[in-house]
Amino acid sequence: MRPVVLDVTNQEQIDALAPEVAADFGHLNVLVNNAGVNTITFRPLENLPKPTEEHVDDFKNVYEVNVFGVVRMINAFLPLLTKADAPRIVNVTSKRGSIGEEGAWVGQPSMVYSSSKTALNALTVHYAREFAHTTLKINGAAPGHVATEFNNFRGTRTPDEGAAVAVRLATLPADGPTGAVFEDDTQLAW
Ligand SMILES: NC(=O)c1ccc[n+]([C@@H]2O[C@H](COP(=O)([O-])OP(=O)(O)OC[C@H]3O[C@@H](n4cnc5c(N)ncnc54)[C@H](OP(=O)(O)O)[C@@H]3O)[C@@H](O)[C@H]2O)c1
Repeated sequence: MRPVVLDVTNQEQIDALAPEVAADFGHLNVLVNNAGVNTITFRPLENLPKPTEEHVDDFKNVYEVNVFGVVRMINAFLPLLTKADAPRIVNVTSKRGSIGEEGAWVGQPSMVYSSSKTALNALTVHYAREFAHTTLKINGAAPGHVATEFNNFRGTRTPDEGAAVAVRLATLPADGPTGAVFEDDTQLAW
């Protein structure tokens, strides 16, 4: 394992990393886009804000990581992914992003965060369509409510349980799905 520090909002850092991976490995088998933020990452608030409490700057800050960061990473690493035999991209999303999914709107979801994951699900489908004729598969992994810093450790699942769906989608067989969103083995509605 070779950890590197990378800010997905920093195009220069991403552009510098891709050639390093190319030089050292020649290809990339799996890209997991896990980085994610919420409005309260940037603004000290007790609870997730109501829609009327969110500002355009909240969209800009959260979309920079949750949406644009993913596009930056995919576009930078696609040349290396397409050199792998069975490339897999996993976008870590949330049930909150699935407008039609039962249970997705329980409690007070953040408009900015939820819509960023809706956008992420949409771009997952768009990339999947472009690469449908190849061995590349790209899917969304919703980890469920996991106890992490993200929710002040209020989640009910362990990180291992939450990561299982991403691992499964990162190692899908050739006849596995693409352009879909899963929580565990269940495909989520839009
Ligand atoms: N926890 C849940 O219940 C839950 C539910 C549904 C979906 N998710 C999704 O799961 C993913 C992981 O979240 P988590 O629960 O593990 O939260 P977390 O503990 O807050 O982890 C978020 C991670 O994103 C990284 N990150 C934030 N901004 C970044 C940037 N600009 N560049 C690179 N990395 C950045 C953070 O790095 P630093 O620590 O260095 O800041 C941290 O490692 C997110 O996409 C989140 O939306 C979580």
